[in-house]
Amino acid sequence: MKGLSSFPENGCVESDKWTGQGLHRFLCVQGGDHDRSYAKNSEASAFAITLCKPMLLQAIGSMKLFVGGEGGGGGSCSIRVADLGCAAGYNTLATVDTVVESLRERYTELGFEPEFEAFFSDLPSNDFNSLFRSLSYTMPDDVRPRSYFAAGVPGSFYCRLFPRGKIHVAVSLSALHWLSQIPSTVLDKGSRAWNGGRAWIDGASEEVVEAYSRQSEEDLYNFFKCRREVMVEGGVLFLLMGGRPDSHEPRNQLGDDESREKHPFTISMDRAWQDLLDEGLVDEETRDAFNIPAYMRSMEEVERAIVKCGGFEVQVMEYKRMSENSSEKKQELTMDPVSYGRAKANLVRATLGPIVEAHIGPHLSEQLFLRFERRVSSDAYLLSKTCFYGVIIVRAIRK
Ligand SMILES: C[S@@+](CC[C@H](N)C(=O)[O-])C[C@H]1O[C@@H](n2cnc3c(N)ncnc32)[C@H](O)[C@@H]1O
Repeated sequence: MKGLSSFPENGCVESDKWTGQGLHRFLCVQGGDHDRSYAKNSEASAFAITLCKPMLLQAIGSMKLFVGGEGGGGGSCSIRVADLGCAAGYNTLATVDTVVESLRERYTELGFEPEFEAFFSDLPSNDFNSLFRSLSYTMPDDVRPRSYFAAGVPGSFYCRLFPRGKIHVAVSLSALHWLSQIPSTVLDKGSRAWNGGRAWIDGASEEVVEAYSRQSEEDLYNFFKCRREVMVEGGVLFLLMGGRPDSHEPRNQLGDDESREKHPFTISMDRAWQDLLDEGLVDEETRDAFNIPAYMRSMEEVERAIVKCGGFEVQVMEYKRMSENSSEKKQELTMDPVSYGRAKANLVRATLGPIVEAHIGPHLSEQLFLRFERRVSSDAYLLSKTCFYGVIIVRAIRK
């Protein structure tokens, strides 16, 4: 199956339909600022940012300072920060603001005033317009405008994106668990890795999991190779991605049974697709051809890719677990299952909505998320459970 298919009968050369590959054309979070947008449904990523902020500040606090023309800055030193997989929303600017302001303080103490360039990078389908608009707002709790030169860089972080030796700080938060594509064998009905009846790899056959795992390995190696080329020696690479404990095999992506049952990519998602099928709204082939392009790596897998690539010294690598909701919030939501279902549907829609729409169109996408919402709100057993998200945090220096 190809990412770009042709439909000569209606005169189109490229399909607007997502068939599992050519993902860079479709994957993005839901843009805008409405109830279903990523901007309004990015609590989990916000938790993740809060969780890793002390480590990010430490990384910036101990990084080498570049003065004069060092590190590709030319005669007047300019410090370049890239946020890879930045999306659009409150978290996006918060990350770069944190990096720039803490670096600026360190330079001020030294008596230097470098200029800062910030590159906000994401797939071309990202809502860069919203992102650019938000740049004109002042910093939180402050009346100053932002004090860096900003640019948007459309493209996949599995590719180069910048000229050689230019970036001093590269950050990627809650993005690297997205793969570059669904492995072709998973989409091939004749293959043993065909993933019929499931939207993700949880509970899938060994062959499906292996195909995802190989894709993940290839993608991560490409990611580090491209960063190795574009980063200045002494520069900081800081990553936070969805992950799993080392002790768990790739097929155990979510770590514990409750999380496996409650995760938005698993049971409720499969049931929602089955509802569409049972109601005759989609056929089996369409349902089976939808797969979620995400993979939770272990630290071992991340380390293997870094070692294979070379050029980085890992200073910190940690696995952390965070709960979907605080216990108070969980109690509140359990008492109001309808709101819980809606919140969860909005959350998953904010990230998967664009690829579901590209796969079945806006009307059926709406129907799918409605079924998902109902499934979640009506499952009292699941409501009482807790879903944990695992993350891997990496801080490395370009050698
Ligand atoms: C959950 S959002 C996280 C956004 C932001 N970093 C945050 O912490 O809130 C993940 C982002 O990664 C982007 N992304 C996924 N795969 C990508 C790729 N191959 N290259 C660039 N961005 C990618 C998605 O488009 C999305 O905007």
